[in-house]
Amino acid sequence: MNEKISQIVGELTLEEKASICSGEGWMSTEAISRLDVPSINLSDGPHGIRIDEKSKLEKGSKVTTCFPTASAVASSWNKELVKEIGKALGKECKNIGIHILLAPGINIKRSPLCGRNFEYYSEDPYLSGELGAAFVNGVQSQGVGTSLKHFVCNNQETDRMIVSAEVEERPLREIYMAGFKRVIKEEQPWTVMCSYNKVNGTYASEHPYLLTEVLREEWDFDGLVVSDWAAVNDRVAGVKAGLDLEMPGPSEANDRKIVEAVKSGILKESILDRTVERILKLVLKATDGNQRDCESRVDAKAHHELARRAASESVVLLKNENELLPLDERDISSLAVVGRMAKEPSLQGGGSSEVDPAKVDVPLKKIKKVAGEEFQVSFAPGYSKADREDEEMIEEALDAGRAADVVTLFVGLPREVESEGYDRHNMKLPENQVKLIQKISEVQPNTIVILNNGSPVSMDAWIENAPVLLEGWLAGQAGGGAIADILFGKVNPSGKLAETFPVELQDNPSHINFPGENDKVLYGEGLFVGYRYYDEKNIEPQFPFGHGLSYTSFDYSELNLSQREIDDKEDLTVSVTVTNTGEHAGKEVVQLYVSHEDPRLVRPLKELKSFEKVALNPRENKIVNFTLSRQDFSYYDPSRKKWIVETGDYDILVGRSSRDIRLRSTLHLKSTQKLEKTLTENSSLKEWIKDERARTLMKQVLPEGESPGGILEGMKNLPLKKLTMLSQGKITEEMIKRLVEAMQK
Ligand code: BGC
Repeated sequence: MNEKISQIVGELTLEEKASICSGEGWMSTEAISRLDVPSINLSDGPHGIRIDEKSKLEKGSKVTTCFPTASAVASSWNKELVKEIGKALGKECKNIGIHILLAPGINIKRSPLCGRNFEYYSEDPYLSGELGAAFVNGVQSQGVGTSLKHFVCNNQETDRMIVSAEVEERPLREIYMAGFKRVIKEEQPWTVMCSYNKVNGTYASEHPYLLTEVLREEWDFDGLVVSDWAAVNDRVAGVKAGLDLEMPGPSEANDRKIVEAVKSGILKESILDRTVERILKLVLKATDGNQRDCESRVDAKAHHELARRAASESVVLLKNENELLPLDERDISSLAVVGRMAKEPSLQGGGSSEVDPAKVDVPLKKIKKVAGEEFQVSFAPGYSKADREDEEMIEEALDAGRAADVVTLFVGLPREVESEGYDRHNMKLPENQVKLIQKISEVQPNTIVILNNGSPVSMDAWIENAPVLLEGWLAGQAGGGAIADILFGKVNPSGKLAETFPVELQDNPSHINFPGENDKVLYGEGLFVGYRYYDEKNIEPQFPFGHGLSYTSFDYSELNLSQREIDDKEDLTVSVTVTNTGEHAGKEVVQLYVSHEDPRLVRPLKELKSFEKVALNPRENKIVNFTLSRQDFSYYDPSRKKWIVETGDYDILVGRSSRDIRLRSTLHLKSTQKLEKTLTENSSLKEWIKDERARTLMKQVLPEGESPGGILEGMKNLPLKKLTMLSQGKITEEMIKRLVEAMQK
């Protein structure tokens, strides 16, 4: 292929080279028919295939399944499931003629308000990265490419096209880029999409540090970088920085700028050639015969069933007082389904990810079907679409609620609240729904609240009175059936939150700095995003990261480490036995966190480093194994521009959620990493005195009797350079300079 590419590049005119650097249309690349270079088609994801009005593809002619959105699927913590969804989407792409699916989006959930949170997985980079990798693996196994997006720090919609994310290098590396690195290292997505925003003052679309130094030189990414749609600011700067394809196209003005820049010597033609080569490589790979062999037949029914399974694995049972659920085990014969959303569910959020679903399962209908004919099911809408209290509707709902044994109350965020393009203003449910929950739970103690939303809502006004609470998410076209399956025990819930649900918005770490001002947003919370912050500040969330109940119970025992002491070149195997001690078959997400006991730089109290989902029958047990390696213990030290592993004690914590740790054990890790001396003129006297070599050098360089060994304790925190003053001139600036240079040799 390389030869063919070089040959084509050799035959292209400068103008043709520039024109292939932007798309041919909204969702396709430019063909060069003279040289048999075809055009390829792109389409949005992530939870289904969007046939854009402006694309050349025919809307509605082929199957497009609407799977649960990313915040739902992430709650399954099931990599195999995400891979299966990826495969199904890959098949649908093939069937439609799409070469690149513009997904997955793995941006970190910094604030619950980000309008696009429903499209993203988690507040945790490990979880986001693992699920993103599974998705990419699934899609690409079908010979269809993916676009890992939005690189990076597109964590809000407000001013997304101009805002500068002001973020320190350490959180940038450890939180915001870590998921991208994982996906790239594990699965090599065919493309990466840069974000709209600036990062520390430079547009992501022309950021040499992000697009070349990190992405290609450090992470060995060998695919193509595509702009988010209309994200290009300065096209020539973009080409230089490593942005290959501008979308959408055609972008004739920018193509001309590329030509002029080459002609005037501002842009080397060899750099342009590199970009053109990457575009050609993608086009040829996507249209290559081998790729075409992958199976493309789409079984719409099987995809619908997969969407239902995925939705049911994503539901999180947040609360289940008196074990009211599952309903099939209670002595009841009637159920009132209340809430407009039981009839008109929100399947997905707004914006570029919207899918035209192949069909829709309505919760009310599915509940009736799963409940069976003997069971009486009534319905009352309870609230109107507009956030207005309607007394008649409330009374009707209360009557239905009183008359039944149990109420399932469907509430959620109106469709227009969660969308690409803007953020939410608050975490509230509409007031008329809040009133309804309060009133219904007064007349019916057996009230089950079912949430239909893509990101957390505040619950403090009603949660005390709601004995049972299910987070049903934006569950896609088959979500109705999934809820019915959970209610009647056909499926045992196994979802766990992939993000913290705070009690109130003010508790969230980004609160003071979201969404920023004067075109800047300061990531002032640094590393302390999501549970890392709630842990550190000891704030009780409404529901913690990793939380989710089951109809059965699990016991954790026998936590074993393969070794008590390792060095950083060795892997550690951790095993734990998990037993289903209840009466139902169920699945458990076993979570492993690592905590560094005495770090040199500040570190979160614990961080997720592995997880496994296991299926267990009643009384069955399984040994779950995890492997940890160097990277799982390391942190990024911006002063050294390196990942560091320190010698020290590390706690290995295993549990059911970030706040329900069942077992712990300690490991001693010995680092073999040589940390270069960083003692400078600004290092404290204490640090200089502590170091053996520094002490020797001080004796050699400083005048006799002036070595700071015997200095008063209170002075030892002063920087070395202050010795000039303390010695009243006996130690000169020149001596300090010599000392520092000698130390750095
Ligand atoms: C979104 C991307 C999407 C693109 C193409 C942009 O507005 O940010 O996620 O892939 O449009 O539709």
